[in-house]
Amino acid sequence: MTRRLDPFFTPPEVAKALVDSLSANSPAVVLDPAAGDGALLVAAEKRWPTATFIALDIDPSHVRLLRATHPDWLVGRCDFLSPRSRASCHALRTVLGSIDLAILNPPYSARGAKTWPIVLGAEELRCGRAMAFVGTVLGVLEENAEVAALVPSSSLTSRKDAASWQAIQQLVSVEKTGDFPRGTFDRGTASTAAVRFTRPGCGVRVAPTTSRRPKSQRLAVTVRRGHTPLHTVSKARKRTGDRNHPLVHSTALVAHRVLRAGLRPSPAGALPTLRGPAVLLPRVGKPMPEKFATWGRGSVVLSDCVFGIECDSSAEMHRTLDLLLRNWRRVRNSYVGSCAPYLTVAALIGLLEELGVTASWEGAQAWRRAASIGIEAG
Ligand SMILES: C[S@@+](CC[C@H](N)C(=O)[O-])C[C@H]1O[C@@H](n2cnc3c(N)ncnc32)[C@H](O)[C@@H]1O
Repeated sequence: MTRRLDPFFTPPEVAKALVDSLSANSPAVVLDPAAGDGALLVAAEKRWPTATFIALDIDPSHVRLLRATHPDWLVGRCDFLSPRSRASCHALRTVLGSIDLAILNPPYSARGAKTWPIVLGAEELRCGRAMAFVGTVLGVLEENAEVAALVPSSSLTSRKDAASWQAIQQLVSVEKTGDFPRGTFDRGTASTAAVRFTRPGCGVRVAPTTSRRPKSQRLAVTVRRGHTPLHTVSKARKRTGDRNHPLVHSTALVAHRVLRAGLRPSPAGALPTLRGPAVLLPRVGKPMPEKFATWGRGSVVLSDCVFGIECDSSAEMHRTLDLLLRNWRRVRNSYVGSCAPYLTVAALIGLLEELGVTASWEGAQAWRRAASIGIEAG
């Protein structure tokens, strides 16, 4: 166990106070993304014994201990601040899309002025380590979820976290529910504050609502469906090595981004199916908020498992993504089929219209037409 990971565990009375600060009646899935010995989830289990508990930690010794002491919890080793690690964490993937409560006492020590990146709504910011945990946890939760977190008291007033607190308050309601002085944690050094975050939908709506905008302000987008089957890609690599138009498959959609390393060469002759700025999302497979990603610039070929929503500007792209994430329950319910859920073009257009977005649909024909007369399709 290394000190760098902040192995300061929460005493039972503080864990209980944190759990008691939450208003949830019967959460389905409760997450601690930095679980340590599981103190917070133990307190949560006392209050909500029928919930599913998911405990993550970066430290393998904690993960082993958690598995041994709580065989009925979902336990996973995960570096929660790493998009790759989250994407490959089986325990987390199992419950993504249904986590409705999170409780955390994240690590916060950091050398000097080190900061971590987070995406809050449409904003990309840098902040302290504890704040990065809070921002990341908000990104994996359901629309109506609640969060209770212990953060270093200094975070509430620090310049490092100021912009992040501001951005978070645009998305959720934030309330300080307690103060714990220095020495509350055996070996911990800082005083801490308990903070509760309530997602819109719990009676508090901070972010803009989903009601229809006046026509002049409505977003207007173009929906494009990918058509290139993945099995044609490896053949293409052997034949041409053509990387002019990269191909995006759903596996490259990670943590709201398209992983450059996940791009593949497209088959010879494949026509681009989309031009950024755009929001990309899986057409097939269990919908997960993290897999709704932005694609800034350039033309790409979409695999047949991916939809693209082309936007007029980068700001509109971020607004569109934000809108989809804030209405996650509706988005998730638009996928049909239980074994391998999928989304139809009609359902996606219907969903966007319901959210106040004017959506038009352009099939592959538009690109073919454009290519045959030698211009780039828009
Ligand atoms: C302050 S302790 C809190 C443990 C427990 N939640 C509690 O309240 O008693 C922080 C925990 O975060 C874990 N941790 C540190 N960095 C992490 C990361 N990047 N991802 C996941 N867990 C991490 C540490 O191993 C440690 O168990």
